[in-house]
Amino acid sequence: MLNFAFKNRTEILFGKDQINEIASRVPSQGKVMFLYGGGSIKKNGVYDDVVNALEGVDFVEFSGVEPNPTYETLSKAVEIVKEQNVSFILAVGGGSVIDGAKYVAAAAKYEGDGWDILVNGAEVKSALPIGAVLTLPATGSESNGNSVVTRKETQQKRAFGTPIVQPQFAVLDPTYTFSLPTRQISNGVVDAFVHVIEQYLTYPVNAPLQDRFAEGILSTLIEQGPKALENPEEYDVRANVMWSATMALNGLIGQGVPQDWSTHMIGHELTALYSLDHAVTLAIVLPPLMFVQQEQKRAKIIQLGERVFGLDMQDKNELIDATIKHTQDFFEQMGIKTKLGDYDLGEDAVEAVANNLERNGMTALGEHGDIDIAKAKKILSLAL
Ligand code: NZQ
Ligand code: ZN
Repeated sequence: MLNFAFKNRTEILFGKDQINEIASRVPSQGKVMFLYGGGSIKKNGVYDDVVNALEGVDFVEFSGVEPNPTYETLSKAVEIVKEQNVSFILAVGGGSVIDGAKYVAAAAKYEGDGWDILVNGAEVKSALPIGAVLTLPATGSESNGNSVVTRKETQQKRAFGTPIVQPQFAVLDPTYTFSLPTRQISNGVVDAFVHVIEQYLTYPVNAPLQDRFAEGILSTLIEQGPKALENPEEYDVRANVMWSATMALNGLIGQGVPQDWSTHMIGHELTALYSLDHAVTLAIVLPPLMFVQQEQKRAKIIQLGERVFGLDMQDKNELIDATIKHTQDFFEQMGIKTKLGDYDLGEDAVEAVANNLERNGMTALGEHGDIDIAKAKKILSLAL
């Protein structure tokens, strides 16, 4: 096992009506920014719950944070934070709103242009404190320090990460997810699944506990994900999906083990160029990436097939093929198509993604740093 230091500073407030807990956690002094997205929270009652919970708190609203939040929109929020001397951000929504809050929290305290944090590695020395109310289980953003922001003008989707922007608390009320459209239920389950894969499907380092944590989350998502599509208002199913998605990317399962993240990095370019949903890009990239990297990942692909998909085959090459097929079939079962052609993308997209990867310096991806541009093109070509 590799060395690590682990601390998760987010207090999870899990379950129905836990929104009431935020009253004692949001600072009563100073000004709060209530940040949200395109308005789903106004239709499902979450907005009213938050406003009630903020009784007596001085707050300003900022709405319109879009899926794949943009630098252009978030910069407007940064201006308001500065003008109105906001001292706390309450993010209410999915990963995009929470990621957006992290960017605003850091950029408002940064002297130059906040985009430096995403492209030039500018250090985040301080940030406003953040609280989160999660409405879409998927990204784990509610209890990690990562943020992904898109700059429309340059078609770049870039990430930064620091514990300084990790939410202090996160409300996870499964009933808030009842209103999710089918597409977002699917996206959430597939995104969480691939988060686990990025931290699990590398090479063995004799870390059986991390492996079993990961396998437990994968098995739970495979079991509960289709049920969430069938019975959208079943509380326990939603609760299990929600907790799985948080646990998939709150840091725990990735401690002391190698990590990959190449599926995400290639996927981000597909979103930046063609606005495909984040999870869709992962469902397209992961199966061919497993195929191309099967020698490097051999032991773990076999372990995934045997322990998670319950496969039992003498011929391990056949088992690897079957494991890749089962992974792809699970994405399709969750309603996500896995070929570039399903989204009217062809050879041009392979070239364009490769060019963007090169421009962004993504030329040595994966746990071994051996996915170069040529290999990324091979992976994408297999997804045509
Ligand atoms: O904007 P509103 O109106 O709220 O609607 C949203 C949005 O249209 C809607 N939605 C959310 N909760 C809902 C709901 N609709 C009805 N009922 C509800 N309860 O769902 C749509 C998608 O929301 P979004 O926040 O974009 O989805 P998600 O949570 O999947 O976040 C995706 C973003 O997170 C980034 C992705 O790259 C992408 O930009 N990621 C962040 C990560 C992190 N911080 O650790 C890791 C991930 O790998 C990922 O990269
Ligand atoms: Zn993801």
